[in-house]
Amino acid sequence: MKKTIRDVDVSGRRVLVRADLNVPIKQGRILDDLRLRAAAPTLRYLRESGAKVIVCSHLGNPNGAVIEALRLDPVAERLADILDHEVLKTDDCVGPEAVTASSALKTGEIVVLENTRFHPGEGANDSGFSSRLAGLAEIFVNDAFASAHRAHASTVGVARWLPAVAGQLMEKEISILQRTMARPLHPFLAVLGGAGISEKIDILERLLPKLDTVLLGGALATTFMKAKGLPVGQSIFDRESLDTARRILGRAADKIVLPRDVVIQETPAENGRHRTVAAEAVPPEGRIVDIGSHTADDMTRLLSKAGMVIWNGPLGVCERSAFATGTEIIARVIAELRAVTVVGGGDSVKMVSSLRLGNDISHISTGGGAFLEFLAGHTLPAIASLLDA
Ligand code: 3PG
Repeated sequence: MKKTIRDVDVSGRRVLVRADLNVPIKQGRILDDLRLRAAAPTLRYLRESGAKVIVCSHLGNPNGAVIEALRLDPVAERLADILDHEVLKTDDCVGPEAVTASSALKTGEIVVLENTRFHPGEGANDSGFSSRLAGLAEIFVNDAFASAHRAHASTVGVARWLPAVAGQLMEKEISILQRTMARPLHPFLAVLGGAGISEKIDILERLLPKLDTVLLGGALATTFMKAKGLPVGQSIFDRESLDTARRILGRAADKIVLPRDVVIQETPAENGRHRTVAAEAVPPEGRIVDIGSHTADDMTRLLSKAGMVIWNGPLGVCERSAFATGTEIIARVIAELRAVTVVGGGDSVKMVSSLRLGNDISHISTGGGAFLEFLAGHTLPAIASLLDA
């Protein structure tokens, strides 16, 4: 149990809030504001409790450099709409402008600081950088569940310098996901896909003892297909993860469901032809871009019997509508289940939102990597650094 904002008196105090405002933005336009809406309750609570609210976050991965397209201005504007209140914005997260803006804040005012990852000290969890950030405030509220697996200056470092408590979103995510894993309802299924194979395969290995069945798609499935000796043509897979995939198949092949048919696109991609082939028949010039219809039927059948389902990652190249069919089918099936359903990760959540299925999912997590690591039982460093209750 960790302390939360309810355990501290924030009235009249400068409060540094680490939120995860890392939302997809294309040409200045926010494509999905789930994380901003999820951050709002804590900001509202602090404002209404008389705090002076200083919000920080990363956006994208600028790796210590200033990248104009990764400034938080559109995020601050959208937050102002969501909160229906003025939101100030600074062009740096530390230094004279940030110091002046934070010390000039009046009770109930909110300022969003610039992208913390514009500074190399953020990713390096540099103590000089975290003490400069912490110096802007008197209390630290960490509400960035989606970044809780990163031991960065703004997630872990500042907790060394300030009393650090969980925000409402952090508290909610922890309690729902903890409950989910404490008493899983069987059959307990996971649907895993998308990129970040090496991280996901490690997590899959840790989760496996708790799961009854794992349905795999995307490059994660391709890595297992390759590990089984199936031809994968030009498809993306992770060579480094092949041994882990073989080990998992050796121990629990009966739990792993791989595609039995796949949609392939023939390379070069510009020629654009695509067709469905059996999993054993991917041609040397083919690239797997989606699950096939027989696989979608298999997965639907298995899902319909589930007591609980967790889903992270698309089953195909779902940013191309022609290859989003498998992911779309699975999203609709999951939404129709009477089982407890928990979805996390950018592309899966985006699919659920774009099909307007959000109300039919038991819990939509704001986390991607953090969601999976938490479910696998890892200690997330940013949660560990909060004050114990
Ligand atoms: C996410 O999108 O999962 C979080 O914002 C963390 O981002 P990162 O993977 O770039 O650290």
